[in-house]
Amino acid sequence: MKKIVVLSGAGISAESGIRTFRDADGLWEGHDVMEVASPAGWKKDRALVLDFYNQRRKQALAAQPNAGHLELAQLEQDYEVVVVTQNVDNLHEKAGSSQVIHLHGELFKVRSTIDESLVYDLDGWEMNLGDRCDKGSQLRPHIVWFGEMVPMMEEAVREAMTADVFIVVGTSLAVYPAAGLINYVGAEVPKFVIDPNMPPLPASDNLYLYPEKATTGVKKVAAYLRESLKL
Ligand code: APR
Repeated sequence: MKKIVVLSGAGISAESGIRTFRDADGLWEGHDVMEVASPAGWKKDRALVLDFYNQRRKQALAAQPNAGHLELAQLEQDYEVVVVTQNVDNLHEKAGSSQVIHLHGELFKVRSTIDESLVYDLDGWEMNLGDRCDKGSQLRPHIVWFGEMVPMMEEAVREAMTADVFIVVGTSLAVYPAAGLINYVGAEVPKFVIDPNMPPLPASDNLYLYPEKATTGVKKVAAYLRESLKL
């Protein structure tokens, strides 16, 4: 079975009603990103950060996967599909994708602030000051904030290096190390990029560009793989 590795970003969830990060106003849902998504922001105002992620969870609980997520899940009928996502929502999982690597963490997990191996599932949307881990420390969102390590990157690189097909969908490729993942993909591997506003890409012979939305683009890529490349 051929292996497809997908790198997805906020754009794939846009048509499910979740806003992308780099919207024109430069704010993330009305906030300066450093206030709500950095260790300094957490130190300054933990209640604000917790509330911000509570709102993001409420929004994610109400959102449904769109045709882009669903088509990627469908590809598992014919291919091994590994989705490497920068998104913290769970729409790939809701769509049925079975192998999802979250580079930037997950909204529905929380972790200890003194022992990062203590990670817990969160059922609903709410997390408050005073919610503690088993060792007694305040819990924090299980999110990779600006300036923090990206522990899942190593696994993502291993997947990229063994891909037979690479698909990039809905990301501005503005944030590293995620943006560099494409550089680990073999030179001969076909690389598809779906985005109405094409991100900067390294020169490559096997690039297929789809300057359009995820809901239509992923379908076209799937059809091209099956019908034209006969993979
Ligand atoms: N379909 C596909 N792509 C879309 C759509 C759509 N319907 N709508 C917008 N896009 C594209 C935009 O053109 C843009 O290139 O999605 C991309 C979104 O870019 P960003 O907002 O920068 O999101 P992303 O690349 O995921 O950001 C990376 O930055 O803030 C951090 O940690 C956060 O994971 C995030 C990372």
